[in-house]
Amino acid sequence: MPAFPTPKQLWRDVRVFDGLTQLDEPMNLLVEGERIAGLWPVREFDEAFAQGAACAGRGGVMTPGLVDCHTHLVYAGNRAGEFEQRLEGASYEEIARAGGGILSSVRATRAASEDELIAASLPRLDALLADGVTTVEIKSGYGLTLADELKMLRVARRLGQLRPVRVITTLLGAHALPPEYAGRADDYVALVCDVMIPAAAAEGLADAVDVFCEGIGFSPAQCERIFQAAQAHGLALKAHAEQLSNLGGSALAARYGALSADHIEYLDEAGVRAMAEAGTVAVLLPGAFHVLRETQLPPIELLRQYGVPMAVASDANPGTSPICLPTLMANLACTLFRLTPREALSGMTAQAARALGRPDLGRIEVGSPADLCLWDVQSPAELAYAVQAGRLRQRIFNGELVHAR
Ligand code: NIG
Ligand code: FE
Repeated sequence: MPAFPTPKQLWRDVRVFDGLTQLDEPMNLLVEGERIAGLWPVREFDEAFAQGAACAGRGGVMTPGLVDCHTHLVYAGNRAGEFEQRLEGASYEEIARAGGGILSSVRATRAASEDELIAASLPRLDALLADGVTTVEIKSGYGLTLADELKMLRVARRLGQLRPVRVITTLLGAHALPPEYAGRADDYVALVCDVMIPAAAAEGLADAVDVFCEGIGFSPAQCERIFQAAQAHGLALKAHAEQLSNLGGSALAARYGALSADHIEYLDEAGVRAMAEAGTVAVLLPGAFHVLRETQLPPIELLRQYGVPMAVASDANPGTSPICLPTLMANLACTLFRLTPREALSGMTAQAARALGRPDLGRIEVGSPADLCLWDVQSPAELAYAVQAGRLRQRIFNGELVHAR
């Protein structure tokens, strides 16, 4: 016997959504230390397995901890004024071209210290955690100088030390052209490739590199240079692509073996095929679709036909998705994009984990890390059907009960 036996916790009689599907029968689930150690139908359970296990819960629906695989959680200020401008008729692109939009958050974020960014971002992170998130991806992209991009990434990493959550960070230096580079976009791309990516990689501050491939962002040729630089530094790739128009960014990302192409409202069949061939995950962002009152739907039926994995994320950001309620995203994915509740929940667990290059997460399987949520609902579908905060009874992170109600 080791001096400190690994603690064992048993959940009895739970309905399980395992990240891909809902299991037919009520289950008992055993966690040992940081891992899921056993999963049995209640009627087959042998009490000998429970020897020494503390009963941690009974009843309810157990899902993997939610994985929010696309957020811009770290920023200063807000853009409520632009929300009002859009209601008066201005478009997102018009506001961006007039120096607002992303650049307005850049001004506020550059002016903020690390501590101020932590203080601004923690309430948003806490809202995600209270609705079941155990892994969150956080992008930079409101700094757009070496120092400010690294500042954002450091803040993202620190958030992961301040709260029980896995934080995956993404360098999004190519989010917008900063004003000091007006008319010199290629020079800015060179800064991203030759300075930001090497520095973020050397300091271990970024897990991946993202680009905004769009008329108001960066061209496919510029994005390609950034992908090459990221690959040379061993960083994974992601792309904001086909959000407002079709530039072929998703197919480009797929050709470079990107983990995901995100937004993709304007994606065509060639792009879908390229993603299917590369195993690139389609990250659907119904919050941005909803807030921008977009009408072009992502090609869900084609994605299904080609077997492209679909993830769903909050895109939490001050411009297009100021929303920090992940279960609302499941609801919007169903109501706006016609995903089934099963697809939406899988999109926020197993598929989202794949979009982060972490297929070990987002699953309830023997051997997986014990990141789990116990919900006070009767079926997993209710999580997508009803919009209601406060249904999370327990959040388990790495085998530890970190939220209990
Ligand atoms: O994912 N599309 C680009 N980036 C963000 C919006 C950022 C912003 O408006 O601040 C998005 O929608
Ligand atoms: Fe985004």
